[in-house]
Amino acid sequence: MILALLGIDIGTSGCKALLIDADGAVLASRTESYGVSQPRPGWTEQDPSLWIEGARRAVAGVLQQRPDAEIGGIGLSGQMHGMTPLDEAHNVLRPALLWNDQRNAAECAEITERAGGAEALLALTNNRMLIGYTGGKILWMRNHEPALYAHLRHVLNPKDYLRLILTGEIATEVSDASGTGLFDVRQRSWSRPLLDRVDIDPALLAPCHESHAITGRVSRSGAALFGLAEGIPVVGGGGDSVIQTLGSGVMAPGELQTTIGTAGIVAGALTAPEDNPDGRLQIFCNVAPEAWHCMGVSLNAGGAMAWFRGVMGAFGPAADELSFDEIVERASQSPAGSRGLFFLPYLYGERCPHPDPLARGAFIGLTARHDAGDLARSVMEGVTYALYDIYALMKRTGTGHTVIKASGGGARSELWRQMQADLFDCEVVTTEGAAEGGAFGAALVAGVGTGIWPDTHTAAALCRPLTRQTPDKAAGQVLRGAFEIFHSLYPALSQSFATISEAALDP
Ligand code: XUL
Repeated sequence: MILALLGIDIGTSGCKALLIDADGAVLASRTESYGVSQPRPGWTEQDPSLWIEGARRAVAGVLQQRPDAEIGGIGLSGQMHGMTPLDEAHNVLRPALLWNDQRNAAECAEITERAGGAEALLALTNNRMLIGYTGGKILWMRNHEPALYAHLRHVLNPKDYLRLILTGEIATEVSDASGTGLFDVRQRSWSRPLLDRVDIDPALLAPCHESHAITGRVSRSGAALFGLAEGIPVVGGGGDSVIQTLGSGVMAPGELQTTIGTAGIVAGALTAPEDNPDGRLQIFCNVAPEAWHCMGVSLNAGGAMAWFRGVMGAFGPAADELSFDEIVERASQSPAGSRGLFFLPYLYGERCPHPDPLARGAFIGLTARHDAGDLARSVMEGVTYALYDIYALMKRTGTGHTVIKASGGGARSELWRQMQADLFDCEVVTTEGAAEGGAFGAALVAGVGTGIWPDTHTAAALCRPLTRQTPDKAAGQVLRGAFEIFHSLYPALSQSFATISEAALDP
């Protein structure tokens, strides 16, 4: 038998399970997909039973791949800001509201007002109540579904719902708790003053632990459902976009992680909870005690590429069968700057640096000379510019960068990594395990929590470099020049986006 740690990530498009050994090497990995429902424009929901079924099949998959694995600990990761509403008996009251759900703008404003204004809220939590955060969802349910709300007893993030099914325990940890917007990130505890001001019963929220703490053990029913041994310790884990920084080995200042998953993320570790001046960034507790996390999240990265791929594929003879690699191949035939074509990727509205649910996507600068390759490249560049836009904000908190550790599905593309190296003018590396996302970080945290490694920094050092790219100075100059134009487009168009939305042409 070989000692293994199991990481499980409840993603937006699927659940990943993975096993690593005591050197941090991946032994097995399995992803099981599920869908997102969009009952109305801007609403995104998921039935939590999809997560459990996805996790059950993904865990079965890795156990089948490595029957010799003896699991010493389990770490959980998941999409952040989700709201899984439960009644007294732990029944799910309605489909979960997801992180990219844009319906709670009015409630986020209500929380900000009841907190005493944006500055007062930042003083309490060091974060704005961004649209999509769990806190605003709780109020949305209170305002719009009062009959259901009357039965609400627990609000859990997606991975914490899996924890409940696996262990029977209601618990969360500091990184996901930060993403509710109701958490005092400086003190690493729920913000009682804020909960009082918005009149949310603290009992609705789960007891909160440090990420490596053991929060429970696999129960008898959990063991039967997942095919695991009863009693395996389950650590807190972390919100996906926080815990995956550890999975890229990003723990020291100067190391920046970019993620091109459904969302696009630029993140770095902090040694103190730096102030978040206008609240456009997310400053959260990190998965190591006494460490914090700074990031900006764009709601549109791989998701924009997936949209483009679907649309282009639908025009081909084999509709919907255009692969990611074919799109990238086309894009590589267009030069840096996409021959003057720009893509604004705000297909799902935007969060950072433009907190605007009404933002829309656009191709700007189209001429009859542009071909499919230019369109494809402009989509990839638009996503990369959006990351750079976020980084421009992060620099204001003193975050620097000497290296980018690229992760997420988009990091599979050499072209996309090179664009980042050129635009950010620094080395871009990928590390072992990083492509596995939150599940890998969660397995590392499980190793820390169960004593395989003494601390999170030791675990981070296990993330060995796999690929390394250096900047092309000439392409970098073109891209940074083009970025200045990109940067000017959202302010020029934001009023039009609002007008389009008001016109309600797509009710
Ligand atoms: C982080 C965020 C996303 C989700 C989805 O703030 O919204 O990264 O966690 O994965």
